[in-house]
Amino acid sequence: MQELQDRFGRRFHYLRLSITDACNFKCEYCLPDGYKPEGKPRFMALDEIRRLLAGFAQVGTRKVRITGGEPTLRKDFEQVLELVAATPGVERVATTTNGYRLEKHVADWHRAGLQQVNVSVDSFDPASFSRITGDGRFDSIIRGIDTALTLGLDSVKINVVLLKGHNGDQLPMFLNYIRNNPVDLRFIELMETGLTGEYFKAHHLPGTVIQQQLLAQGWTLDPRGADDGPALNYSHPDYAGRIGLIMPYSKDFCVSCNRLRVSAIGKLHLCLFTEAGIELRDLLGADQHCAELVARLHAALGQKEATHYLQDGNSGATPHLASIGG
Ligand code: GTP
Ligand code: 5AD
Ligand code: SF4
Repeated sequence: MQELQDRFGRRFHYLRLSITDACNFKCEYCLPDGYKPEGKPRFMALDEIRRLLAGFAQVGTRKVRITGGEPTLRKDFEQVLELVAATPGVERVATTTNGYRLEKHVADWHRAGLQQVNVSVDSFDPASFSRITGDGRFDSIIRGIDTALTLGLDSVKINVVLLKGHNGDQLPMFLNYIRNNPVDLRFIELMETGLTGEYFKAHHLPGTVIQQQLLAQGWTLDPRGADDGPALNYSHPDYAGRIGLIMPYSKDFCVSCNRLRVSAIGKLHLCLFTEAGIELRDLLGADQHCAELVARLHAALGQKEATHYLQDGNSGATPHLASIGG
């Protein structure tokens, strides 16, 4: 098997597969007016997903994260998890969710093969949470995270998009939560997408604001594992959980890039911020195209750029991250 590698020697064992653009939340930084489909969406069907996974497995994919939109809104979400879990070579089955259906369904998902779940919780103050996300389900989401921990999933992480004027001064509340809960809580720097220029100017905060507070309170940087993505993780002996920083505007962020993305309509994106995706769907209609799919993936990797160039003042061309799975 020839594994995927780019011109810069980076290897890609991790696929982020979006299965829908639809979302039921209205996060201010993502879909402030809610999800509005353009025409009739044609998201990949289970058979297409199965063939896509088989192709990626042949080029060394060992971890698959199912994303959206909100992936759990798909009626066949559990079957998607089963497909991923049944793909030879794929060792880790993960998803990223807004937590809306977590409390009720995480046990079913676990049974279907889910091992790792990342949940967005942009504030631990319920009022602040609903201002950011347009949703009032905070308590249920936290109970859902508790259930995931009780079930013994391999990994439960929380995502917080760092926002000036909302949660930028709420570090104590987040720390309070991870004192006894063994989760990685990651602050993600707000990224400027095609549609969020004004919002970005008003709310972006560098992750160093959190980093400085952590260092002053005795938190230390963990050594990086070989398969780690771009998050920097900090630990403290008094806390069960860790704090992660995802700082796409920092120097060398993309050096450790280890993931590829496929959108819900079957386009390969070599970066969160590449403008046009590379068509894969014409090869997903029948099993016989698998060799061609593998060849197309290898050829595509030759086009992967060193970085996203956001640090040069560019905005991402992607309209919002719901369309490519974050
Ligand atoms: P694991 O390491 O598998 O837990 O996943 P993750 O942190 O990549 O997954 P998650 O879906 O929770 O991602 C958190 C967010 O971090 C993403 O939605 C993006 O906003 C950001 N992020 C993750 N990977 C990248 C990347 O390669 N580039 C950029 N610019 N941002 C990323
Ligand atoms: N900048 C940073 N993170 C974002 N997310 C969505 N849009 C943005 C953005 N513009 C986050 C979500 C979720 C993850 C999938 O991506 O909050 O945690
Ligand atoms: Fe939905 Fe996630 Fe976008 Fe929020 S960030 S609107 S939960 S897709």
